[in-house]
Amino acid sequence: MNVLVVGSGGREHALAWKLAQCESVRVSALPGNPGIETAAACIQADPMEFDAAAEACHARQIDLVVVGPENPLIAGMADELTRRGLLVFGPSKACARIEGSKAFAKALMRECGIPTAEFETFSEVQPAVDYARGKTAAEGGVVVKADGQALGKGVFVCDTFEQAREAIHAILVEKRFGDAGSGVVVESKLSGTELSLIAVCSGTKYRLLPVCRDYKRALDGDRGSNTGGMGAVSPLDNISTQTAGELGEQFIAPVLRRMEAGGTPYCGALFAGLMLTDSGPFALEYNCRFGDPETQAALLRIESDFARLLACVAQGEPLPEIHVSAQASAVVVIAAKGYPGDYAKGIPIPDLAMSGVEVFHAGTSRSGSQLVSSGGRVLNVGALGENVEQAAKKVYNTIAGRFGSEWQYRSDIGVAQFVRHDA
Ligand code: AMP
Ligand code: GLY
Repeated sequence: MNVLVVGSGGREHALAWKLAQCESVRVSALPGNPGIETAAACIQADPMEFDAAAEACHARQIDLVVVGPENPLIAGMADELTRRGLLVFGPSKACARIEGSKAFAKALMRECGIPTAEFETFSEVQPAVDYARGKTAAEGGVVVKADGQALGKGVFVCDTFEQAREAIHAILVEKRFGDAGSGVVVESKLSGTELSLIAVCSGTKYRLLPVCRDYKRALDGDRGSNTGGMGAVSPLDNISTQTAGELGEQFIAPVLRRMEAGGTPYCGALFAGLMLTDSGPFALEYNCRFGDPETQAALLRIESDFARLLACVAQGEPLPEIHVSAQASAVVVIAAKGYPGDYAKGIPIPDLAMSGVEVFHAGTSRSGSQLVSSGGRVLNVGALGENVEQAAKKVYNTIAGRFGSEWQYRSDIGVAQFVRHDA
């Protein structure tokens, strides 16, 4: 089977790496990255150019396309490639709205009775400000979210009314997020611990990946700015397989039933970002794709044929079970110093010959024969271990002393599995 992975980050490197281990699978990537080249033939093309992507797939006799990032999915890549006769793992444009519009996602949660922070959606400043004033007075905090895609930067967790007012202003008036800011969601601020639930979905059927958590803040102890994720671990001490199954029934199954009933069955990965609060689990967000870097941590533990699972989804066949290693995994993100603020690109990458760990490339490119950084999050180093702490220790022992002052990474991945976000 010829499988093409769309994307160029650490998640796509992990997908290509895992798929290449499956029997009789040859992997290509579009566009891929220098790390992915070790597992896949990389095709230099823009994933947002659907005609060119489809042509490349036909020319290489691709049997299955696996779309990694949200941008092409939200823009309708799965629909366009399917229309051109290709088999695709990835949700349609209609389903990808669950990530493309927070207002859509929140309305869907309300309609399906999925627990989520109490909210309202606004397109005008004054009613949004009034609602935020009432909510901060009553509850002490509020979260303000740009409706559309804001590259993960459109969420403001506010402790005061003044912060909320500024956030609403930045989104609706200054248009800091462009079109993503034509609407705003204002919701209650929840306290608890976060959990990433990722399902491989086919209509109303699904299989859960092993549960993970990511570490969103830039600095140790969950301090500093929100990032795309600085590390991930799996499993979680307090989440048994049974609990994960219950969370799947509560947060994945109703979305799938709703999509199917609306005539747009869901085919692809569905990610629920959950907050486990004192009054039970709540959904913070849904993504229409595999999480990054959670997928790297999950795939390290998956032992069954992942290519077959994804092909079954795309073909509408019954889903095989996922077999998961009893070992735990930890992934540490190595970033350019300064990320998520200003950071340098083109930093030479040190020797990556390391044993006992997997190195996934998230933001690398070549400058002549030198491998250099090309983004904020540059490498993901992951390992398996007896438990999460041991897995993390293996990573930290291996990378110790290799990355100098131009680099940064958190040193507490897997150490503090659960840090409470208190209101
Ligand atoms: P989102 O993109 O909606 O997941 O938001 C990004 C991050 O903001 C989440 O991972 C949480 O850490 C935080 N967040 C979002 N919504 C809330 C909420 N209602 N209460 C507390 N924190 C939140
Ligand atoms: N790590 C969170 C996400 O993929 O959105």
